[in-house]
Amino acid sequence: MRSVIWIINKYDAGKFPEDVEKDGLKAVNLSSNENPYPPSNEVKEAYLKALSSINRYPHPEYKDLKKAIAEYLDVDESMVTVGNGAGDILNNICVAILDAFDKVAIPIPSYTLYAILAMLRDASIEYVEFRNYKIKADEIPPFKLLFLCSPNNPTGNVVERKEIEKLLERGNYVVVDEAYVEYCNKSIVDLVNKFDNLIVVRSFSKFFGLAGLRVGYAIANEKIVEALEKIRLPFCISRVANDVAVAALNSIDYYVKLRDEIVKERERLARELNKILFLKAYPSDANFVLVKVVKKMDLAKRLLEEGIIVRDVTGLMGLEGEHVRITVGTKEENDFLIRTLKQVV
Ligand SMILES: Cc1ncc(COP(=O)(O)O)c(C=O)c1O
Repeated sequence: MRSVIWIINKYDAGKFPEDVEKDGLKAVNLSSNENPYPPSNEVKEAYLKALSSINRYPHPEYKDLKKAIAEYLDVDESMVTVGNGAGDILNNICVAILDAFDKVAIPIPSYTLYAILAMLRDASIEYVEFRNYKIKADEIPPFKLLFLCSPNNPTGNVVERKEIEKLLERGNYVVVDEAYVEYCNKSIVDLVNKFDNLIVVRSFSKFFGLAGLRVGYAIANEKIVEALEKIRLPFCISRVANDVAVAALNSIDYYVKLRDEIVKERERLARELNKILFLKAYPSDANFVLVKVVKKMDLAKRLLEEGIIVRDVTGLMGLEGEHVRITVGTKEENDFLIRTLKQVV
């Protein structure tokens, strides 16, 4: 076994309802930044229709899915590659680009998977701490590969376009992870036409509510796409997931309505959280809110006792003091959270 295996920490996906529900009581899951609403009717129909052909492999090129993504983002089809979730794409990027000791820059606090995947390639990681993830291009050290997350998980803010452009002008690979970008529409995906070192990573898990199906994609210049297409496993997206993702893109209006509701609830949730003594909610452009717990109280554990799962991000590199990350749920879930917080805190 390679020694790095025993050095890295396993990715921590937080607590899941199945692990904490007992005595028939349902947990409210506000931990994984999922979409709390059911799929569109088109998606349900596509799912059932695809079921009768699961004895067949999906088409290995996923042409219809790539075409639908290209239309959605107004890019050329040759600039689209797909994978088994954004996580899979991030891994493929590391496999394509990184040799041992290559320099990888990771601003923190951010999504923890970047470091795990870079370490698995024996890369040399440079963490750069940014207060509230306000990225300044001049403060990023030299790199072969840079991971930026916009909006950032867990701080919720976007990286300024002009800072990204400055970093791209250096000519090295820049990944911009836009898993949550539909919650703010501040994408920089158009920059792929200008910079051939940019890779924009996207997910169907959040805005399109397909976390359980596992579909992600990346937009980049043809050369990078060719490399990533070589690396991804054949048939890495199931036939059902492929058809459902296309149906989700075809029912975009439904998801835009859900997004508008989530954004409205996010603003209300942040306002209510800020009214509670000892809690400070950061402004967010995503479907979650980062909350600083000013007086240490093990809040995530106390909420769990009340049947609410939030992500305890205390101790995350680049975050000082107790913090929780709360996914914006349905109005009822958010009301329950606020009521419970008022009692617990
Ligand atoms: C910033 C970020 N990127 C990527 C992912 C992975 O998304 P997927 O479910 O598409 O693998 C997540 C999941 O939480 C995330 O927060």
